[in-house]
Amino acid sequence: MEEGAISKDTVIKLLKSEGDDLERLYARADGVRAEHMGDEVYVRGIIEFSNLCANDCLYCGIRASNVNVNRYSMGIDEIMQSVASFERMGQTTVVLQSGETPGLSDDDIGRLIRTIKSETSLAVTLSVGNRPRETYRFWRECGMDRYLIRFETTDRQLFARLHPDCSFDERIACLHILRQLGVQTGSGFMIGVPGETLEILADNILFCRELDLDMIGIGPYIPHPDTPLAEEPNAYTGNEEVFYKAVSALRIVNPDAHIPATTAFDAVFPGVGRNLALTRGANIFMPNNTPVEHRKDYLLYPGKPCVDENADQCVACVMMRIEAIGRKIGTGPGHSLKIHNKRIQ
Ligand code: SAM
Ligand code: FES
Repeated sequence: MEEGAISKDTVIKLLKSEGDDLERLYARADGVRAEHMGDEVYVRGIIEFSNLCANDCLYCGIRASNVNVNRYSMGIDEIMQSVASFERMGQTTVVLQSGETPGLSDDDIGRLIRTIKSETSLAVTLSVGNRPRETYRFWRECGMDRYLIRFETTDRQLFARLHPDCSFDERIACLHILRQLGVQTGSGFMIGVPGETLEILADNILFCRELDLDMIGIGPYIPHPDTPLAEEPNAYTGNEEVFYKAVSALRIVNPDAHIPATTAFDAVFPGVGRNLALTRGANIFMPNNTPVEHRKDYLLYPGKPCVDENADQCVACVMMRIEAIGRKIGTGPGHSLKIHNKRIQ
């Protein structure tokens, strides 16, 4: 069957695979990844530059109402100190992530993007939430290459329950605006938010195809003790294999999108989670480059790995992990392979 054209029923079947079928699913996803994306794993370093947030997403450890968080916002100089070692360490993209209120102003972020683009050959990805078109346009003019903003779930009721500050339509509008501006657009979802079913998970996977995304990040939902969902377990508790089945089905449905092995996989499967994701469909690794003194303050969920390690240690470890599974480190920016973006590069 042609990879892109899979129906919802088939996706649900893939998500229910067991035994030999499951091995076949993983092998097929790995084959699709190899055929469309090659053996290179691109290493995109993430800097969580601020945990200030005005929103109260019900699942998120740094939500505004969590008074136990020690709030911080890095300045441009401090961020540039982290960025300075990226190329030496073999990282070709910097991903700048924060909560959803300007720790840095829009102008400061624009200045930061310009500085990175003029002083390095790095691609710049931003992940700072819903913003107006004018802000996205300004950052694009400053040189922003990519943007990540997850739709989290396609179930509108569930979305509304989880996000008191933002509607599903607003979130999707952001994705469309970014695409119109020629920004490589990434989105995705959490796997197993309370109330999710395999039907919803299949819809989430298929919606990524509909959006024709350049990058798709998905990772297990992990309850955080200081949130209203603290007592609500992941929908697939006791059946965690679903997390990997989702990555494999996602790859089969979206053959030529960049798919990271996200950090939350290591929180659920310490030491092996991201490696397994890389052998079951993923092709991107995003090591944590946040300065060690801030890491424990950017805990979206408990069990986040590497909170006591510095960027050098994290990146060295990541490079070893990639080589250990017989893959190559990607060189160059690793831009989107999609045709609509080839035109604008
Ligand atoms: N503020 C930006 C935004 O919302 O796009 C970026 C930061 S936000 C914390 C990054 C992602 O973390 C969210 O899109 C969500 O999917 C994920 N996340 C937050 N809380 C989580 C949890 N408890 N378990 C797993 N992932 C979580
Ligand atoms: Fe703001 Fe999660 S609620 S970043």
